Amino acid sequence: MGILENKKILVTGILNDQSLAFAAAREIQAQGGEVLLTGFGRGMSITTRVANKLKDTPKVYELDVTNQEHFDQLSSQILADHGSLDGVLHSIGFAPAACLDPDMFAASWADVATAVQVSAYSLAPMIHSLLPLLKKGTNPSVVALDFDAKFAWPGYNWMGVAKAALESLNRYMAREAGRDGVRVNLVSAGPLRTIAAKSIEGFANFEDIWTSRAPLGWNVTDPEPVAKAIVALMSDFFPATTGEIIHVDGGFHAVGA
Ligand SMILES: NC(=O)c1ccc[n+]([C@@H]2O[C@H](COP(=O)([O-])OP(=O)(O)OC[C@H]3O[C@@H](n4cnc5c(N)ncnc54)[C@H](O)[C@@H]3O)[C@@H](O)[C@H]2O)c1
Repeated sequence: MGILENKKILVTGILNDQSLAFAAAREIQAQGGEVLLTGFGRGMSITTRVANKLKDTPKVYELDVTNQEHFDQLSSQILADHGSLDGVLHSIGFAPAACLDPDMFAASWADVATAVQVSAYSLAPMIHSLLPLLKKGTNPSVVALDFDAKFAWPGYNWMGVAKAALESLNRYMAREAGRDGVRVNLVSAGPLRTIAAKSIEGFANFEDIWTSRAPLGWNVTDPEPVAKAIVALMSDFFPATTGEIIHVDGGFHAVGA
């Protein structure tokens, strides 16, 4: 019997089968959890196709996190279809190209605002709209994906600033949602080859230093350790943990050189 038996978990952010959310969805199902998905814009048709690679072909709800109506529809549709939720995975990030330009001053406020809205702020309306469903769940848990924002990384630029905002918001959301017994945590992942990672120019540098420096080593093509940590946080095995950042990075964050 899996550790997510009888849990219903909404997984956002599957664009293709390389997406970290896809690995998470597969692992959630392997542990007995039921998975619901969201898809975004033109990628929605790909998400629907990728859903076929999962057990029982999960339903895909539409969600553009910049559209409040989508949040409203999402919560009323899931209420009608399922009545409650035990977990939500926020696996969403986006920054306009200017935010990842080697020249950090190339980005306008409009660019930065988009990066922060999609990659950080969106966690708040997501939790707000789904809280009535999560409150009815068992030991409910929200997990979002982070890239360590303690440091200034080459090329990560405004996305790094957005991740710093996400790390702070994680703590505030833990305060808010904790009143209703809902946990909110981040998994801070090491670099993994996905569509989002491809848009970061300095990514190859991260890969090299990570692989050589992480105490446990690191495989940029293996999302399974991240997926397993997500499963653990969704399960009943972290009942008193919230506002936390769990590093799943081979231990890279702990060493200086
Ligand atoms: N790949 C890495 O190295 C790495 C490392 C640490 C953290 N992360 C984080 O993991 C998360 C998932 O990224 P990924 O690497 O799996 O890449 P990905 O490109 O597969 O996933 C990003 C997702 O964000 C979605 N998205 C973008 N704008 C959206 C919007 N307006 N509304 C709804 N969805 C939107 C995309 O459709 C896509 O599904 C992101 O938060 C990313 O920052 C990735």
